[in-house]
Amino acid sequence: MALGLPLLLVVVVVAASSRAGLADPAPAAVSALPGLPVAGLAVGFYNASCPEVEDLVLAEMRAIVAKDRTLGPALLRFMFHDCLVRGCDASIMLESRSKKGEQDAVPSYGLRGYEEVERIKAKVEEACPLTVSCADIIALAARDAVYLSNGPRYAVETGRRDGKVSAKSDADNDLPPPFSNIVDLKTYFSVKGLGWKDLVVLSGSHTIGSAQCSSFASDRLYNYSGRGVQDPSLNKTFAAGLREACEAGRENDTTPVYMDSTTPYDFDLGYYRDVLSNTSLFLSDKALMDDRWTRTYVERMAAAASPDEFFDDYAVAMTNMGRLEVLTGDNGEIRKTCTSYVD
Ligand code: HEM
Ligand SMILES: *[C@@H]1O[C@H](CO)[C@@H](O)[C@H](O)[C@H]1NC(C)=O
Ligand SMILES: *[C@@H]1O[C@H](CO)[C@@H](O)[C@H](O)[C@H]1NC(C)=O
Ligand SMILES: *[C@@H]1O[C@H](CO)[C@@H](O)[C@H](O)[C@H]1NC(C)=O
Ligand SMILES: *[C@@H]1O[C@H](CO)[C@@H](O)[C@H](O)[C@H]1NC(C)=O
Ligand SMILES: *[C@@H]1O[C@H](CO)[C@@H](O)[C@H](O)[C@H]1NC(C)=O
Repeated sequence: MALGLPLLLVVVVVAASSRAGLADPAPAAVSALPGLPVAGLAVGFYNASCPEVEDLVLAEMRAIVAKDRTLGPALLRFMFHDCLVRGCDASIMLESRSKKGEQDAVPSYGLRGYEEVERIKAKVEEACPLTVSCADIIALAARDAVYLSNGPRYAVETGRRDGKVSAKSDADNDLPPPFSNIVDLKTYFSVKGLGWKDLVVLSGSHTIGSAQCSSFASDRLYNYSGRGVQDPSLNKTFAAGLREACEAGRENDTTPVYMDSTTPYDFDLGYYRDVLSNTSLFLSDKALMDDRWTRTYVERMAAAASPDEFFDDYAVAMTNMGRLEVLTGDNGEIRKTCTSYVD
């Protein structure tokens, strides 16, 4: 574990509810640093209370991606947007009628998977009523999205509970935009207690799925550095193809473009090869070449014969991300449905 970072203790304020008589699993008043175990989270947390939960999630995920394979990557991204904002507490599922919730934030634009999380939750509720949190379902669905793209089926800690607060400003502040430079990226991650290794490994998620032209066309193709030009480092052949997909001047162009153009649905080392060969989509992907440690990792993975090291690192980094600011024990709640209105 390389966490060369300002240590950050995330203090979860415990609601002063005294519920005498209830066997209280270790209350996690202080959730530990990522990289350290968190009291209340464990692989197989539902072994006794809902032994079939992981099978149920996998079965639903299989059905979901069989019908529409773009939903696999969408559900992987979903966990990132859940965990970076107020921790992995499913607060991204909360809706605000006054449009002040996380869903209404700029970085949530184009986020998909809300209905699928709810669909999985409904299956799990049939088998195990009011037992499994939506936050855990999001983490399991993300893992299975990776697995169903020929990635690793790493062990997922469970035991999270769901939050009740959702604020647009949190999502606007805590999620890095695709034009982030390396200093910004490291800061966005380090304030959550995630290090350079988590950054470069989790960015490898961009080996599956797609982005809309609006997420990168201006930065890379038409107005690099605000100079009205194409990013000169972008591979010219690759850029020509992107220009065909993404017309100039359409700032809200929703056309989807694969992030790993060679193997867009395979969880492999393609992302690192793209970053190294200047065929990645975002400035934030290219930025990984601007730090000695992240660049060294990109170079090693781009040249690796086997994805094993990446897969092992990915399991660790996803576990770290899955521990961010979690509610466990008596904190938070288990809802019947993941969607709920905050106002
Ligand atoms: C490092 C900073 C990151 C930035 C700046 C970033 C930014 C983005 C953006 C802008 C998109 C395209 C959205 C769209 O146009 O619809 C995207 C897609 C995606 N991101 Fe990230 N992301 C980051 C990290 C992550 C992490 C940590 C994960 C997962 C653990 C992740 C998983 C994904 C996936 C799978 C997609 C494809 C979604 C789809 O096909 O629907 N990203 N990301
Ligand atoms: C649940 O069962 C699995 C498989 O036997 C085991 O690895 C895990 O430690 C168990 N977890 C708990 C919390 O009992
Ligand atoms: C390019 O970016 C600059 C600086 O942000 C801005 O002033 C200019 O309007 C942009 N040009 C176009 C065509 O969007
Ligand atoms: C990628 O771009 C950088 C910066 O312009 C350049 O130094 C490097 O040679 C390029 N790599 C390839 C494989 O084209
Ligand atoms: C540029 O991209 C094209 C196609 O995307 C690829 O065939 C070519 O090898 C790349 N060039 C370099 C220098 O990486
Ligand atoms: C693009 O979308 C934003 C936000 O949805 C909107 O305010 C803006 O008017 C749109 N621009 C164009 C040119 O359609």
